[in-house]
Amino acid sequence: NIENARGWMGVPLIARARVIGYITLDSHTNGSFTQNEANIAQTFAHQAATSLENCRLFTETKQRLEELEVVSRVSFALRAAHDTVEMLPILLEEVKTSLRTESADIWLYEFEANELKTKAVSGQFERLNKMNFKPGEGVVGTVYATGTAHIITPQTQGSEIHEANRNVFDENWSGIVVPIRTASEIIGALGAAVYFPKKIESHHLRLLTTLAEIAGNAIYRSNLYRQSEEQIQRLTTLRELDTAIASSLDLRLTLSILTEHLLSKMGVSASAVLIYNPTEQSLDYSVFSGFKNQKEIRQPIKIGDGLAGKILINRRAFFLKDLGLENESRLPNWLKREGFKSYYAVPLFSKGVIKGILETYFRETFSPSADWIEFIHMLAEQAVIAIDNAQLFESLQQSNQELSLAYDRTLEGWGKALELRDKETQGHTERVTALTLELALQMDVPEASLLHIRRGCLLHDIGKMGVPDHILRKDGKLTEEELVEMRKHAQYAYDMIHPIEYLRPALDIAYCHHEWWDGNGYPQGLKGEEIPLSARIFAIIDVWDALSSDRPYRKAWDYEKILEYIRGLSGKQFDPEVVDAFFNMIENESRFFDWK
Ligand code: C2E
Ligand code: SIN
Ligand code: SIN
Ligand code: FE
Ligand code: FE
Repeated sequence: NIENARGWMGVPLIARARVIGYITLDSHTNGSFTQNEANIAQTFAHQAATSLENCRLFTETKQRLEELEVVSRVSFALRAAHDTVEMLPILLEEVKTSLRTESADIWLYEFEANELKTKAVSGQFERLNKMNFKPGEGVVGTVYATGTAHIITPQTQGSEIHEANRNVFDENWSGIVVPIRTASEIIGALGAAVYFPKKIESHHLRLLTTLAEIAGNAIYRSNLYRQSEEQIQRLTTLRELDTAIASSLDLRLTLSILTEHLLSKMGVSASAVLIYNPTEQSLDYSVFSGFKNQKEIRQPIKIGDGLAGKILINRRAFFLKDLGLENESRLPNWLKREGFKSYYAVPLFSKGVIKGILETYFRETFSPSADWIEFIHMLAEQAVIAIDNAQLFESLQQSNQELSLAYDRTLEGWGKALELRDKETQGHTERVTALTLELALQMDVPEASLLHIRRGCLLHDIGKMGVPDHILRKDGKLTEEELVEMRKHAQYAYDMIHPIEYLRPALDIAYCHHEWWDGNGYPQGLKGEEIPLSARIFAIIDVWDALSSDRPYRKAWDYEKILEYIRGLSGKQFDPEVVDAFFNMIENESRFFDWK
């Protein structure tokens, strides 16, 4: 009571050259304070100030120390976590421990939903009616939108808290919400509440801000890690697909690399690639993976039917969040039994022409992210290339086969024409072809050579086309000059066939079937293994068949005489090894010689 005061004394509390307070002394007695007393009071005040300051320093140091401890503990704990999902519960526990409270909450912003979603929660926040906030909505949304921490006091909470949540909180609490940020952006918010008599103080703000900062960095790092991990996996898959497309002609193998990636890396439960069949106007299942019933035959889908029809008409990717809402009649029975929730399909077009559909199915409701969509479209492009390649190869192979057939028919025609002109016994060409192939097989000639040997046989005397009629069709023995003309047929064969690249591998027989093992043959006078094996094989069969047949200039020889004759020429006209193989063949497979 200042009116009764008769004496007054004030002394400042000075700590480290700063006035931190005052001590005032009142007295009811006039002139009761002396200078001496003032000096004593000042001395006391100095001591008090020092004690207070020490106390404050002690508390502050203790808090700082505790903060440091929290920071190092949280940093360490978060480093051990593999991903954001593992991090958040750890972070929540640390927030609760540091603030000595049960109530804490972490929200992260989700781009697809444009919402901050509760990711970890405890205490009174578990009772929130509204847990997710749009940017700017409620305290959390505001902290996210503005990037500044916000303290909720018992006085302000009535108006600040989102309407839906006003009744759910305990009484007498103070709250704090701080933004979680990375180097470049805000990604969420961190909140906590304390109860009377505690209230939010500046060191809480500092601590939570630090925790949010550590969390932001940790989440950012783990996202980067996850993204680069994902990126590597994607590149690996693209590379694998590339390699498969380039090296494998098996379309299913290539496409299954794609469906495998969808299943193992992109959250897809089941996937199928359907290929358009223009003849049937249908889509045929080429590969499918992840279905409960993998064995059931998937009937081709008529082009206008089902989901496929819808996709082909719209010519664009098609997403169904809830397959259950789809008109029942659109879905085949086996699909209904699978019980899928969501569906995403991409039509496969090549230069505007439909090639097929890539389908993905999800057993849990799925919302594709922009990133996910981008990559499945990249995979779809690869699928188109794979299908294009396979179909191109198929049609090339087919036209090759057709061409090849046409050629062989032509060759057979030539052979027949020659037989007519040569007056050789009918079927000579056919017989020598069959016997030569048989003998070649006995001698383990590679499978790939057989086609060329066959063609060589058909063409062996094609050069006789160039021999004049009066020589070729002469009834009697040939004169020496006529024989010279006749022997030109081997060179003629070379001249005719060599320019045709397709027949070049078949040339050996036509060109070299009159060469002799000892070098006395024609046209080149080759010797021993200089003579192509196919020609060495053929030569025996040719002579065998010529002597077995009537000619205008002689009668057919009998069986024993021919064999004796051939045996006699082993090492002279014929390769001894081929002669042995020939006799082996006759002994083992007399069926060829029954007709004799
Ligand atoms: P070709 O009738 O296809 O006979 C192929 C080969 O079988 C002959 O090659 C020869 O090595 C053997 N050969 C065929 N007939 C006889 C034969 O009566 N006696 C003997 N020892 N060997 C025979 P070559 O000798 O180089 O003859 C090539 C082609 O010349 C023959 O093909 C045939 O079209 C023709 N030719 C050969 N000799 C005569 C002949 O005396 N009169 C006629 N008109 N044509 C002949
Ligand atoms: C402290 O962190 O040292 C004080 C705890 C509190 O006030 O909640
Ligand atoms: C709100 O309802 O605005 C959020 C509640 C909170 O931050 O404590
Ligand atoms: Fe010949
Ligand atoms: Fe012949």
